Amino acid sequence: MPMPIPPVLNPVSSKGGTDYYELPIRTVAVGVLPGRKTSVLSYGNDFFGPTIRARSGRPAVVTFRNGLTEHANVHLHGAHVEAADDGHPMDVIEPGAARSYRYPNQQRGATLWYHDHVHHLEAEHVYRGLRGFYLIDDPAERQLNLPHGQYDVPIMLTEAKFAEDGTLVFDPANPFDRPTLLANGRPQPYLRVRAGKYRFRILNGSTHRVFTLSLDGAQMQQIASDGGLLPAPVPVTTLKVSPAERAEVVVDFSAHPVGTQLVLSDTTGPVLRFDVVRTGTDKSFLPPQLRPLPPVGDATVERDFELGITPPGEPVAFRINGRTFDHDRVDIQIKRGTTEIWRITNLDTALGIPHNFHLHLAQFRVLDRDGRPPAAGEAGVKDTVLIEPGSTVRIQATFRDYVGRYLFHCHFLEHSGLGMMAQMEIVP
Ligand code: C2O
Ligand code: CU
Ligand code: CU
Repeated sequence: MPMPIPPVLNPVSSKGGTDYYELPIRTVAVGVLPGRKTSVLSYGNDFFGPTIRARSGRPAVVTFRNGLTEHANVHLHGAHVEAADDGHPMDVIEPGAARSYRYPNQQRGATLWYHDHVHHLEAEHVYRGLRGFYLIDDPAERQLNLPHGQYDVPIMLTEAKFAEDGTLVFDPANPFDRPTLLANGRPQPYLRVRAGKYRFRILNGSTHRVFTLSLDGAQMQQIASDGGLLPAPVPVTTLKVSPAERAEVVVDFSAHPVGTQLVLSDTTGPVLRFDVVRTGTDKSFLPPQLRPLPPVGDATVERDFELGITPPGEPVAFRINGRTFDHDRVDIQIKRGTTEIWRITNLDTALGIPHNFHLHLAQFRVLDRDGRPPAAGEAGVKDTVLIEPGSTVRIQATFRDYVGRYLFHCHFLEHSGLGMMAQMEIVP
């Protein structure tokens, strides 16, 4: 099947320098598999939501109407927003109700995404389709003349298990049994491309799988991570993307004659095939320098976090510093304006469970991984970082502007739903 490209959502109105959008939250039947219909949850009409294209510095208000018979809500992952607009797990949209979230977009251009975050339902809701791209365009990027328009393609990778009749099966006790890999909501689709450059914005929209991607050995130039452009392109032949992470790459198909097929594969199988179908002039550019990283503050506070499953014999739960999530408990307090260094260790060597770490509100920099500097591709602005069993990663973030309660958690949503999530309160 061809890979669909999520439609870009038009604002319903624009007033006073703000764009207003509206989206439903509903159940729809989608032709995910050939010849069958699958009932999914959607912010629109498909197994993903439409793409919202915001502009750096220009606020957007998005109103979601919950047409489900259960709670829903929306978190804009990677966004710098007020606590009331952050989609806290206990701050839900009742069935039949609507809710407007205000997104200031006072941040650099980046590939963000919006997804459900209802307490205990987030993994199922995201798995079933409540996820979409939110791209922040930045004038500072436009002048680089990177591939744009139809050559700037968001690709959301997910996984699923389907019954014979096409029914989507969600079994949280068996998250490893999701054999179908999807790109933009279709199993192993193809995309027809010109023999020229493309910008692919890859998002791991799955809840439980790390994708390790390669493109038939071809070189890709990584240009951005979660929080936007890297200082310079990083040539890669493999890309490891854990749940919620984004990696943007420029791929140049011009070296490949028309008729060539290149397959983007995970270690477990093919994900997406590119068919080079035509030549054409390519006016885009991949400059040797992209954009300098924003400065980092001086850290004055250090903290330690340990991620781990409960010991054998106890009921299975996932913990941060020995505790499971309690929405009534504030785990740490941070004074607004502070820059902090967090040292995060994955204790789960015995069972070999990978975790990752996602911070709401503030994007961060990865300082080191087991004492070594991060790879160039993850040395940029990040909001989610993979932490392999036994590994320790140090990150640094500055908590500016907003006060209130925000989350940090493992973004393997089956883990955060079982407790690997905590709350920070930013205080004035
Ligand atoms: Cu994608 Cu709590 O986040
Ligand atoms: Cu988030
Ligand atoms: Cu985890």
